Amino acid sequence: MLASWGYINIFYIYISNWVAFLKLNPKTPKSGDIPYKGSDPASIEFRNVSFTYPGTSYKVLNNISFKLEAGKTTALVGLNGAGKTTIIKLLLRFYEPTSGAIFLNGRDISEYSRDTLYQHFSALFQDFVKYDRSLADNVLFTSSSDDRDVDRILKTLSMVGLKYLANLLPYGLDTVLGRRFENGQQLSIGQWQRLAMARALYKSPSLLILDEPTASVDAISENSIFDAMSQLSRNMTTVIVAHRFTTIAHSDKIIVIKDGTVHAIGSHTELLEQSEFYRKMFYAQVHYHDY
Ligand SMILES: Nc1ncnc2c1ncn2[C@@H]1O[C@H](COP(=O)(O)OP(=O)(O)OP(=O)(O)O)[C@@H](O)[C@H]1O
Ligand SMILES: [Mg+2]
Repeated sequence: MLASWGYINIFYIYISNWVAFLKLNPKTPKSGDIPYKGSDPASIEFRNVSFTYPGTSYKVLNNISFKLEAGKTTALVGLNGAGKTTIIKLLLRFYEPTSGAIFLNGRDISEYSRDTLYQHFSALFQDFVKYDRSLADNVLFTSSSDDRDVDRILKTLSMVGLKYLANLLPYGLDTVLGRRFENGQQLSIGQWQRLAMARALYKSPSLLILDEPTASVDAISENSIFDAMSQLSRNMTTVIVAHRFTTIAHSDKIIVIKDGTVHAIGSHTELLEQSEFYRKMFYAQVHYHDY
């Protein structure tokens, strides 16, 4: 009994961490209670949005306004630190805008229940996740339906050009990926990134958010991924943060973010004519790739 008492004291140290963790209040903004049905592609409007990160004093976003039209693909471009990822974080309700508001299908996005938003939004970040689980699980995870639809998994894998893995890997869709487990098969970074993209596409989201989705994907494959995605895109609004002009060229509209403000909006050709800043970014890359 005395020995057990000793153990309780030792283990309590660990449990107290767990209890403290459970007591933490989430710092994300409050969720509304209107369910978001996601039956139509999302239309988004940022209206005079400004944002300062908690604990800092300067505005990362300063009075920005723009629209993401339903069913269209919009690219956000700009230099490092311009505020592109911050825009995505606000759209996903990780933070509340300091002033201004974001509208989803005409209604303030804060009125919707966050869980229902996440059922119909897919987001792929710069630091995407690799699950040391089976190939199929990597596609299914984060999707709300539990049923494993093999045809749909294969169709999604073929969109991102990974269908061959189902034949190539020793246990097909059930092959465990990564190095954590014995017999786990490691993929290349580009293959992991495509797999993360398949996961984002599997749930047929009404809003697809891609923050530099193809940085590790080679240019030829990138083209075929976007071709495959364009078949879906009628039912889906897409926003892509991108630095590569091969990616940007696929979008219907381009929003140039500069120092936390909207610098220009237009198509690639319009912006080449109208914005010296855009021209500079474009030619810097084109010239670089000449060599
Ligand atoms: N959690 C944070 N707390 C405080 N400041 C932050 C935080 N995250 C980002 N910032 C600052 O906000 C500014 C915009 O960052 P953001 O990540 O939105 O840039 P970005 O346009 O996505 O850049 P990149 O092209 O490098 O991804 C930067 O100056 C950055 O230092
Ligand atoms: Mg970013």
